[in-house]
Amino acid sequence: MTEERMKKNEENFQKLSIKKPDKVQYGVFSWGPCIVHLRISDDFKKVLLEEAELSRKKNLDYREKLAGVIKEEYSFHSKEKVLPYISQCLGIYDQAWQKFKNVFYKPENKPQYLLSALWVNYMKRYEYNPPHDHSDELSFVIFLDVPQAIRDEQKAFIGNSGGPGSLGFLYGEGNRQAITYQATMPQTGDMFIFPAWVKHYVAPFYSDVTRISVSGNVANSIELNKLNEHNKAKFVKIKGEDGPKR
Ligand SMILES: [Fe+2]
Repeated sequence: MTEERMKKNEENFQKLSIKKPDKVQYGVFSWGPCIVHLRISDDFKKVLLEEAELSRKKNLDYREKLAGVIKEEYSFHSKEKVLPYISQCLGIYDQAWQKFKNVFYKPENKPQYLLSALWVNYMKRYEYNPPHDHSDELSFVIFLDVPQAIRDEQKAFIGNSGGPGSLGFLYGEGNRQAITYQATMPQTGDMFIFPAWVKHYVAPFYSDVTRISVSGNVANSIELNKLNEHNKAKFVKIKGEDGPKR
């Protein structure tokens, strides 16, 4: 272990330490994938809804590229308008990741991302997304419209899973001494950013309503055999503050 790493570990311990009345100090190690939950602005939501509706009208069917048992999944007709917003959200993820890993890189080493895919799901009752993962580096899902009927279903749910319409993330082998599963009941405006390899799923709901969500993938490198495909993709310039000064 290098001296620098030892110093970082000690600083991390100091940050995490909680003084109990009996003066025992303890710290907790971060572990597993970094999944960030944030709430998007109304402005971003409006832009996404407008662009999603245009993609739906153009019938840009994207189902053959996706795992969902969902009849209406469309690729975005254009990414231009959403890029500045995505960039800001990735900046937040980048900061969260640095804190999570306790490693702060220099501003000049910020990752450069490419928005490689962007699509919208119009999810109706009984539809679902089985456990799956995504390609590229990071993925996200944004819930643009979660009807109240689904929220009511969730409130009435009796059970110890995520419940109807929940979004679940799976990691690890299921040992009960570790956290290997996280589920959430998304609300309108929620965004989740996660490493693309993390398995996730969406449970069905029973209400006769439509839930709208937008998902996307970002890459930080391109495989040679995907160069043509990515020629149409757009670079995302990361915004946001730099990590804490060390
Ligand atoms: Fe997915």
